[in-house]
Amino acid sequence: MKIFLDTAEIEEIRTAARWGILDGVTTNPSLYAKVGGSYDSVLVEICKLTSGPVSAEVIADDVEGMLEEGRHFAKLAPNIVVKVAMSENGLEAIARFADEGIKTNCTLVFSTNQGLLAAKAGASLVSPFVGRLDDINQDGMTVVRELAEIFALYDIETEVLAASIRNPLHVTQAALAGAHIATLPFKVLQQMVHHPLTDKGIVQFKKDWDAARKSGAGKGA
Ligand code: G3P
Repeated sequence: MKIFLDTAEIEEIRTAARWGILDGVTTNPSLYAKVGGSYDSVLVEICKLTSGPVSAEVIADDVEGMLEEGRHFAKLAPNIVVKVAMSENGLEAIARFADEGIKTNCTLVFSTNQGLLAAKAGASLVSPFVGRLDDINQDGMTVVRELAEIFALYDIETEVLAASIRNPLHVTQAALAGAHIATLPFKVLQQMVHHPLTDKGIVQFKKDWDAARKSGAGKGA
């Protein structure tokens, strides 16, 4: 399963890229609002840090407006993927982008049927929002699993991108459910790195090593 960062924070992306685990980035208007500045420059900067797909979301709700914004984003870098919210106009825009060879990520997907329609319209990625479904007492991971199964069953090339990931357990569950990609807040990525026994073990090894050096034992090591 590929790992994307769900952020517009350049430093977080830079760090994940250094760790060698970054396969792409997703942004959205809310994440962009946290960093501010020019959305275009943020996107260009992110695209320099990863060669993987970088999702840039359109705001317009009419088809021509979506096409105009999406075409503009697509010119910023070769790895831009235009993010379009699920709607009747969104499906039409996704189909038009597909005809133009512009990749899309259909976002705000909350049901398997929505994901299936997005794939049929030609989306490269579909993003079921796991956490927001869990929030309303529905099992978000079921949508991820069902879409992964359906795409495999019918050789559909669209990838399932598990979004609205809130904790490390979601990541494991998304991988087991067959998600092609999970997009994570940086905090969840950090939580995945750490384990109390690992952190404790590192401290203990260092302590024992220092004690041995002090007492003269283990010389020559
Ligand atoms: O990728 C979509 C994601 O940003 C939504 O996450 O936590 O706002 O539901 P959340």
